[in-house]
Amino acid sequence: MAERSNFVLSETLGFIVRGEFIPLYPIYLSFYGAAMAEIITVINQKGGTGKTTTTMNLGSALASAGKKVLLVDIDPHACLTYSFGILNSNGTMADVLSGTRTFEEVLVEREGMRIAPASTELADIELSLRDKLGRENFLLQSLGDKDSFDYILIDSPPSLSILTINALKAADQLLIPLFMDVLSIQGLAGFFSTVTEFRRVFKKPLPIKGIVAVRYDDRVKLSKEVLAYIKLNFNVRIFKTKIRCDARVAESPSFASSVVRYAPSSRGAKDFASLAAEFLSIA
Ligand SMILES: Nc1ncnc2c1ncn2[C@@H]1O[C@H](COP(=O)(O)OP(=O)(O)OP(=O)(O)O)[C@@H](O)[C@H]1O
Ligand SMILES: [Mg+2]
Repeated sequence: MAERSNFVLSETLGFIVRGEFIPLYPIYLSFYGAAMAEIITVINQKGGTGKTTTTMNLGSALASAGKKVLLVDIDPHACLTYSFGILNSNGTMADVLSGTRTFEEVLVEREGMRIAPASTELADIELSLRDKLGRENFLLQSLGDKDSFDYILIDSPPSLSILTINALKAADQLLIPLFMDVLSIQGLAGFFSTVTEFRRVFKKPLPIKGIVAVRYDDRVKLSKEVLAYIKLNFNVRIFKTKIRCDARVAESPSFASSVVRYAPSSRGAKDFASLAAEFLSIA
């Protein structure tokens, strides 16, 4: 992460363009190297597409590359949380979103990262958020000192729930893991319609960092066909790095670990290290 600058510029300095105030300070801050966390929501409306696996392992690979990483689990199934063996934390995102704990209080340390755990109580929070004003912004507002991190990866549920909308509202960019099968293509088309609708309703650009092919198998024709179809039909970056099928990836959560730490010389660990390198090479 770049050094935080001592340079301070008044927040009131800026331009007025068509009646709208455009502050100058973000431009100055980026010139002078102020640290800004990038919030990436790992998302796909379809269930079982590698969201949790990608959040866990990309996060760990980024941390191994020296980045300050925060993982946020806002899926009521709490798979990311359990995958790191976090069972008795000092509160979870359910407490944070209901205002009974601060974000900093619930953070847990794993593999050089901070993790904001989830719990099944998030399902109740989801129901209670429905009647609240500004319900889409609770997650973003709860994130605490975001800029002490380089990357914040949010693992999201496989549905268009209010928690998912919170994850979209919080995101600077989206990362879409995709298994290489036909139903995934169908799910992807539906997901892009959701993103388009979200951009229209919330007037937020919500760029897509890219699609990551997960459980890719070079020897299987379908893997290549699915990838070719996506390239042809969707105008979105597909990461060159593909995450190949690897039993080590699937078994690492039983050891409360990412594959990056559990089996560093495995195919899965190597793929996630390359994904992290490619991820970092993209502005
Ligand atoms: N590269 C891989 N090789 C082998 N198995 C994998 C690989 N990637 C993911 N898996 C397995 O596929 C299953 C689904 O992955 P994962 O839980 O990450 O999906 P998800 O999108 O988070 O699911 P959900 O929508 O239920 O949250 C898991 O059992 C995981 O271990
Ligand atoms: Mg998941």
